[in-house]
Amino acid sequence: MSGFSISWLNLRESADFAARDKTLATKVLEWLGQANDYTSPDRIIVDLGAGTGSTLRALTKLGANNIVWRLVDLDGKLLDEALRRHGKQCLIEDYQADLTITEELPLTGAHIISASALFDLASTAFIDALVNRIDARKTAVYAALNYDGTTTWTPAHPLDEKILAAFNQDQLRDKGFGPALGPQCTNYLQQVLENKGYTVSINPSPWELSAKDEAMTSELISGIASAVSEGYGLTKQEVDDWKTFRLTHVADGHCTIGHWDLLALPG
Ligand SMILES: C[S@@+](CC[C@H](N)C(=O)[O-])C[C@H]1O[C@@H](n2cnc3c(N)ncnc32)[C@H](O)[C@@H]1O
Repeated sequence: MSGFSISWLNLRESADFAARDKTLATKVLEWLGQANDYTSPDRIIVDLGAGTGSTLRALTKLGANNIVWRLVDLDGKLLDEALRRHGKQCLIEDYQADLTITEELPLTGAHIISASALFDLASTAFIDALVNRIDARKTAVYAALNYDGTTTWTPAHPLDEKILAAFNQDQLRDKGFGPALGPQCTNYLQQVLENKGYTVSINPSPWELSAKDEAMTSELISGIASAVSEGYGLTKQEVDDWKTFRLTHVADGHCTIGHWDLLALPG
């Protein structure tokens, strides 16, 4: 168990798909088409922190086919859900493992390593170790939907900034990888990959949440309120006032939350 529920991953999936930068996603598909290795006619994507298979569904919707999906996650229940949904239509190799044991990650034969909504949980030590392994095989990397620390709410509330500052501080808590990079993850990943000679492109992939995302936004507001409720100098009254105001406006308001997608191709 990793703390990410199937219901939360389901809630965010359509916002994630809408947000995903389609230019970079298309380049991923082009890269897979170019990676001609005649001993292995199917393309292998290793999706790290795969959850229930959101990356698989997104790239399949955009045209990926003949892919062997090697899904890696710590949470066996999420992998079972991915298999339940796709195991009869896709070639899936499910692999329950702790990503932090980078030397044991099943990267053999991979044409691309993908991850969605993962790297903001990660630490510098994890990224360094992972990129060392990836670079040894010169495998491409596609990392989508990494939070960048920006959030804009409409209508505004006087506590928005204070709550966001506290939330961004909370993003740096250890999520199992060591101190998390949170909003700095895209910059750090880009720099480490460029230092290894990769050509790295990054494009924004913000969530744009409105009335249609009411259930997800409500869950998000509750999650933010709970994350900032202790240890960041906010009173219970402040957090409760902000949460009540935000929940009152989920259907008539708007929220933009910044993310970035990254594609790194070996030079
Ligand atoms: C935010 S969820 C994203 C899931 C999926 N990629 C998506 O976009 O819906 C992060 C995923 O990383 C997995 N995860 C977190 N820490 C992990 C670790 N140390 N080893 C393996 N998987 C981990 C969680 O189980 C979860 O499925």
